[in-house]
Amino acid sequence: MLNGNGKYHIITYGCQMNLHESEKLAGILSSRGFAPCNEPEDADIIVFNTCCIRENAEKRAEGNIGALKQLKKRNKNLIIAVGGCLTQQKGRAEALRDKFPFIDIIFGTHNLEEFGTLLDKKLSGNERLIEIREKEGAVRENTPKTRTSYPNAWVNITYGCNNFCSYCIVPYVRGRERSRSPEDILNEVRGLVAEGYKEITLLGQNVNSYGKDIPGADFPSLIRRISDIGGKFRLKFMTSHPKDFSEELVRAICDSDKACPSVHLPVQAGSDRVLALMNRKYTKEEYLDKLAVLREYIPHAAVTTDIMVGFPTETEDDFEETIDLVKKARFSGAFTFVYSKRKGTPAAEMQGQVPAAVSKKRIMRLIALQNSVNREYSKAYMGKTVEVLCEGYDAKRDKYLGRDIYGRMIYFTGTADLVGEFVQVKVTATGGISLMGELI
Ligand code: 5AD
Ligand code: SF4
Repeated sequence: MLNGNGKYHIITYGCQMNLHESEKLAGILSSRGFAPCNEPEDADIIVFNTCCIRENAEKRAEGNIGALKQLKKRNKNLIIAVGGCLTQQKGRAEALRDKFPFIDIIFGTHNLEEFGTLLDKKLSGNERLIEIREKEGAVRENTPKTRTSYPNAWVNITYGCNNFCSYCIVPYVRGRERSRSPEDILNEVRGLVAEGYKEITLLGQNVNSYGKDIPGADFPSLIRRISDIGGKFRLKFMTSHPKDFSEELVRAICDSDKACPSVHLPVQAGSDRVLALMNRKYTKEEYLDKLAVLREYIPHAAVTTDIMVGFPTETEDDFEETIDLVKKARFSGAFTFVYSKRKGTPAAEMQGQVPAAVSKKRIMRLIALQNSVNREYSKAYMGKTVEVLCEGYDAKRDKYLGRDIYGRMIYFTGTADLVGEFVQVKVTATGGISLMGELI
């Protein structure tokens, strides 16, 4: 056994997918008797679960790994492990191995489930373990999980991506799309609902193409089958690719008393020329048509999105198309990004990279516009009473917080026993995006 108290600390970068994978790493560590701790200084094992979707995520991870050199000097028994998307890129594991000689274990996205075996080896010997698997394997079930996001629970439904958007590194580090069987998903959701989880978020790089590799399975049917599970819980999913967002899916959401009327539908850009270069396979008009179908069935549906500025060759006119789309789409929230060049992707080879200063100006304008839409949505909440799933306590504001079915965050004065409960909250004030309210 290790010197010290058998504690682990996991540092996660990136998306919900990674947060859930960190829950699997935590599960693997817990099953070996380790307990979580909040500070890296108290840990015997520190695991970095990295992301490489944009350069800044990579830089942050590398900076934080480098900063552990002193800690490792003070505590020779400390085990440092690095896994995730960053290490899965070609040649990166070797580069990290050479740059940071104090890393003990390096693993990738395709062998995350084997982290426990690597750790056992490390604990019984003393050699460094650098193990990356080139290709993805079949879907793995039964990895232990230590969940950290109650009352929400994440559930993988697909792994990998087949879309190859020209800017995106994900298909290269997460491999081809694989779906979990409907039975495994349904069993997991049933178990979570029985345990008291009140919100289930289905995860996949492109949930709409769920089941393409399983005869008889598809995403709308999965939504319907999960909705038949008894008990009160909210069903969410992310991420949807607009090209596969179908009317049948909208009907399944509409018919379900569990599925939230909110979808995350990344548009990326408003210019058809840029969308084609991105290999997104839809036009601005087709995207807006999909929103129209959704709002025809569910007029109040909330749509959030991802938007990128500064894709190679993006002109002012192209950017105006994005602005126009944002005005028309009336998103209830948008994650905005400056294009980041990812080695090995087609876009990295394109001529006409946009200067950083130009991208910055564009993103500022985009954010200002979306903020004004957000404020309008917030204003419409004033005086209304909404059902909120209480998620926890925010120490900084000294308030409890939760979301309504549209994903809108609301703060209110409450008590600890409300966490995980549905409560009625009357909105009494708005502060930009977030709302303040009183328990009814
Ligand atoms: N640069 C900037 N943003 C990116 N995204 C994906 N790849 C890149 C990149 N190379 C954004 C997309 C995607 C979100 C998860 O991250 O908007 O939807
Ligand atoms: Fe990346 Fe496109 Fe796949 Fe999303 S759909 S993970 S942006 S390649």
